[in-house]
Amino acid sequence: MNDALNLLKTRRSIRKYKNTPIEEEKIQKCLEAARWAPSASNKQPWEFLIVTDETIRMKLSELHPYAKFVAESPVVFIPLTNPEIHQKYHMSDTALATMQYMIEAHSIGLGTCWAGVIGTPMEQEMKELLGIPAHLNILGLVATGYANEEPTRGRKNLDDLVHYERY
Ligand SMILES: Cc1cc2nc3c(=O)[nH]c(=O)nc-3n(C[C@H](O)[C@H](O)[C@H](O)COP(=O)(O)O)c2cc1C
Repeated sequence: MNDALNLLKTRRSIRKYKNTPIEEEKIQKCLEAARWAPSASNKQPWEFLIVTDETIRMKLSELHPYAKFVAESPVVFIPLTNPEIHQKYHMSDTALATMQYMIEAHSIGLGTCWAGVIGTPMEQEMKELLGIPAHLNILGLVATGYANEEPTRGRKNLDDLVHYERY
């Protein structure tokens, strides 16, 4: 059963990865899913960077205190936001593209974990390391690979979140 709700409910952030390389066509499918995200006025204020180089992944993991797992995942997807294309919605639009990447990854058997970067002091160092132009922002690092763990996680109850008609 691969309906959307099932995919959304079974995706978990993966922080332990197998040493198995990812087939190139699988990464292309994830990128294609990201490209088809909705965006304000269809401006698509994003670019994507794929990093596989082990030395660079090690350096990224050293720079990010909560993303040590990018040293282990064979691929790191790096969504970049472009505020020059949409000043107001560059972040939310690129977050949607990132989520679509993650859901497609899950649907084809890959694990991911998003680690936030934008607005943190390490962002500039990462931009220099990766040669990213000044006008772009690093939304986050998304580790991608075959899962080597099966974590569980809960959510708040709908009753505590939803209001009908008026708050
Ligand atoms: C914007 C954002 C930033 C995150 N940053 C980190 C991070 O730095 N390190 C990490 O291990 N997980 C990070 N996560 C993953 C969350 O911890 C995870 O999504 C949350 O605990 C729910 O778990 P689940 O994804 O398995 O359902 C981030 C997620 C989002 C959406």
